[in-house]
Amino acid sequence: MDALHRCIPSGNAASKAISEAEAALEKAGAKEARVTKAREGFGDLAFPCFALAKEKGKTPQDVAEELAKKIKLPRFFSEAQAQAGFVNFVFSDAFYEEALSGIAAGFGKGTSRKGDVICIDYSSPNVGKPLHIGHIRSTVLGDAIKRLLEFQGAAVVGSNYLCDAGKQTAMLMTALKHFGAKDIKTENDLLEYYVRIHKEIENSPELVEEARRTLEKMENGEKDVAALLKKVRTISVAPIHAAYKRLGVSFDEELYDSDLVDDAKKMASEAVGKDVAKKEAEGETVVILEPALPNFVVLRSNGTTLYSTRDLALADYRFKKHHFKESVYVTASEQNLHFKQVFETLRRMGRAYSLKHIGFGLIFLQGMKKLSTREGKVLLLDEVLDECVAAARKEVEGREHAANAAKTAEEIGLGSLKFAVLRVTPEKNIVFDPKAVTAFEGFTGAYVQYTVVRTNGIMGKAGKMTAVAPKNAKFDEHERAIISALASFPQVCEESARNMQPHVLCDYLLTVASKFSAFYANCPVLQADGKEREKRLAIVRATKTVLEQGLSLLGIKAPEKM
Ligand code: ARG
Repeated sequence: MDALHRCIPSGNAASKAISEAEAALEKAGAKEARVTKAREGFGDLAFPCFALAKEKGKTPQDVAEELAKKIKLPRFFSEAQAQAGFVNFVFSDAFYEEALSGIAAGFGKGTSRKGDVICIDYSSPNVGKPLHIGHIRSTVLGDAIKRLLEFQGAAVVGSNYLCDAGKQTAMLMTALKHFGAKDIKTENDLLEYYVRIHKEIENSPELVEEARRTLEKMENGEKDVAALLKKVRTISVAPIHAAYKRLGVSFDEELYDSDLVDDAKKMASEAVGKDVAKKEAEGETVVILEPALPNFVVLRSNGTTLYSTRDLALADYRFKKHHFKESVYVTASEQNLHFKQVFETLRRMGRAYSLKHIGFGLIFLQGMKKLSTREGKVLLLDEVLDECVAAARKEVEGREHAANAAKTAEEIGLGSLKFAVLRVTPEKNIVFDPKAVTAFEGFTGAYVQYTVVRTNGIMGKAGKMTAVAPKNAKFDEHERAIISALASFPQVCEESARNMQPHVLCDYLLTVASKFSAFYANCPVLQADGKEREKRLAIVRATKTVLEQGLSLLGIKAPEKM
C-alpha cells in the first residue's frame, strides 16, 4: 500500500540530508557510507553497521555506538542513535522547513527518461463497433503512462492504431452489401448489421464465401470496397473521438491497419526470404516458433495478411518514423501470446527493437457478465461513463450550487472511474461499482479530489497570506508526517514511470490524502495565529500542489469546489 516505506526519502531536501549524513558518517570513520530508509519507528535514515563490524571484528552494535558518539550532527538532523547495529538518524526542524519550502509548482518533475522517444500504443479499437466497457483500461492506462513518462522528460508518441483490415471488418462490409444497407448513419446502425451477419453466417456457406472475397478485395484496395470502408471509418470514428474528448485522452498519431497491408505483405516475403517463415503444404505462411511458442501464421493460403502480419509492419513503420528507444503496447492480456510471437518474429528478422507489452485483465461493472459484441450485447463505454457521473451527481447534490453540479459531477465521475481503473495492478480483473468508486470516503479518486477541494477551501478562507514556512519553525508529528509524505513525490513519480505502473502513484496519493486528514484534524490552521498559521497554510498549499500534480499525471482533474 504505502510506497513511502519502500524507498528512501527523495526531493532536494532529502538528497541534501542524505549527503550530509553520509559525509558525517565518513568523517566519523565509516568509509563509503550509504544510508537507507530507517525502519518504521526507528528515525528517518539508517546506516547499517554489519559490514563494517565484520571488517573490524567487532559487534555491529559496538560499531554503531562508536560512530554515533563520534558523529558531528549536521544541520538536517536532530539525533543519531545506535540501535540494534544501526545508526539511526532523525530529521531536524530545519530539514522539514527546507523540504516544505521546496514544494512549489513543477515539484516532482524528473529527468530519468530525458530525451527518450517512447511510442505507446493504447486504446486502438476495432473500427465498425462502438467503444464498450472493455476499452476503458487500455485507453486510461496508456494515457497515464504517457503522462508519467513525459514528466520524466521523455518524448512520448501516443499512438492510436485503429483496426479496420481484418475479418471482422470484412464481415461487416459483407453484411452492408448483402443485406442492402442504405441509410447507415450511426455506429448503432453498423452494430445492427454486424450482429445480423454473425447470426446468419453460421448457416450460410454463401455468406462465408462472400466475406472471404470481400477481404481479398479490401486487401487489393478495390475501389467500391475502399469507398465503403471509408464510409464505415467515418461513421465509426466520430463517436470514438467524442469519447476521447470526454475522457480528456489524446493521441499524437492515429493510424489504420488497413493502410499497412502492403507493408505487411512485404514483411511476410522478407520473413520467407530470410528463412524465418515458410509456406506450409496447406498454403499458409508460418513462422515456426515451436516448441518455445506456438507457430505464428503470417499469411493465409490466399495470400491475405492477418492481425499478426500487420503488427510486424507496424513496428517497422513506427521505428522508421520515430526512431523510438522503446515501443510499448497496452492491450488486454488475451493478447499476451500474440505479442510474444510478434516480438520473437521481429527479433528473428533482425529487428533489434526494444518492445514491451503491458497486458491487463478484464473489467466488469458489478453484477454484469462478460458480454459479447457479436450478439449485440454490449455495455457501451458512454453508458458506463454516464453511470459513474450519475453516481457522482448523487454525492455532489446538496453540497454544491446547482450551476456547477453537472460539471463537478462529470469531473468526479470520470476522475473516479479513471482512478478505480489505474489503482489496480494490470494483471488483476476489475469489478467496480459506480457508487463505491465515486464515494468521498475510502480508497477512491473522489477522496483524493475531495482533499484537493478542502485545501482550496482553506486557502480561500485564509485570505491574504504568504503561505511560506517562516524561518526557524518547529514541526509536530502530524506536520512532519505530511511533509515527509509530500517530499517523496519526486521519487514516487520516478518509480511509477520506470515500471510504467500508475497504481504506485494512486497508492501514494491516497497516503498523502489520509496524512493530510490526520494533520488537519490535529493541527488547526485557520484558528492558528501568526507564524504558526503561515507554516500550516504552507503545508496546506504544498499538499494542494502535490495532489493536483499527481492527479494530473493520471489524467484526472480536481474540481475547484464540491
Ligand atoms: N484492435 C485490437 C483489439 O481491439 C487491439 C490493437 C492493439 N495494438 C496493436 N498494435 N496490436 O483487440
